Amino acid sequence: MEYKGKVAFITGGANGAGLGQAKVFGRAGCRIFIVDIRKDALDAAIAELRAEGIDAHGAELDLTDREAYARVADECEQVMGETPSFLFNTAGVNSFGPTEASTYEDFDWLLGVNLGGVVNGMVTWVPRMIKAGKGGYIVSTSSLGAFGGGDGAAIYSAAKAAVVSLMESYNAALKKYGIGVSVLCPANIKSNIGRATEIRPAHLGKTGYVVNEETKKSLESIHAHGKDPEELAQNVKDAIERDQLYIIPYPESKPMIEARLQAIVDAVMPLEEDAEGARVRTEALMNWGKERGGMFAAKSEDANA
Ligand code: NAI
Repeated sequence: MEYKGKVAFITGGANGAGLGQAKVFGRAGCRIFIVDIRKDALDAAIAELRAEGIDAHGAELDLTDREAYARVADECEQVMGETPSFLFNTAGVNSFGPTEASTYEDFDWLLGVNLGGVVNGMVTWVPRMIKAGKGGYIVSTSSLGAFGGGDGAAIYSAAKAAVVSLMESYNAALKKYGIGVSVLCPANIKSNIGRATEIRPAHLGKTGYVVNEETKKSLESIHAHGKDPEELAQNVKDAIERDQLYIIPYPESKPMIEARLQAIVDAVMPLEEDAEGARVRTEALMNWGKERGGMFAAKSEDANA
């Protein structure tokens, strides 16, 4: 994997995991462009990266604003002189509470940033990366929460599960362009995410959850023991070099993931109970696969341009 002089675009680059990625990939030789909704933290992060000798730039951006995202992508290409080779969809927010108390605004904010931010990153950048014709690599940050819904983190988990699924699809779709795709599923990061509710937009302010200084401090007490962002970014870099789809550098998560997957496998009807139906359905699918024609071709080369 060549890093020297390559451009890396990192969302949520002002704090936590995103800033760790900016440092690790910057030290490896990438030129860095970070975006974040927190302007002060963004400026501080750029200054910190430059003080290390990293070629760092950035722009203030709310990822959920698609027009602003397109403008920032233009700005990035202009400032850096080329389309990024690396895209890190890292920004995310959380807020926890009883599932049944969730409001539309809880859904709109948590799905909007955690899933919509990734969607906007892919729809903005993928056609540009394909057009640039240089290949590249994309890493989106999901969460261990993707592997199991449970009371308390319903919306966050749903958004993160969708990110895993999306990256599986993009991984298969972008291979032919020489663009690798991975999904990072962290368990706990030493980061600022316990304060995410402080950047929740006022128009999505109506929440069904308890949010106060005590709940923020309680989250911070967990994240104080999280993995160091630079160590996590190094794990991501190692996984990119192995072209590894799922990145889960948390050994303690294995029993939980195994139990969840096993429960799903166990729920599949045994073949003896409907062998003939299974044969007919599988054959129909295989025949359709052979005859599907142009259904999976893009409408035109510049469908998304
Ligand atoms: P963090 O809060 O330290 O950093 C996230 C950054 O995203 C912040 O700088 C924030 O300002 C930015 N951001 C939030 N909303 C934005 C928006 N609408 N537009 C632009 N920027 C926005 O948090 P952390 O932990 O570094 O989070 C990184 C990713 O890791 C997130 O996707 C998070 O969901 C995920 N994650 C974090 C875990 C943890 O334990 N901290 C565990 C599992 C996943």
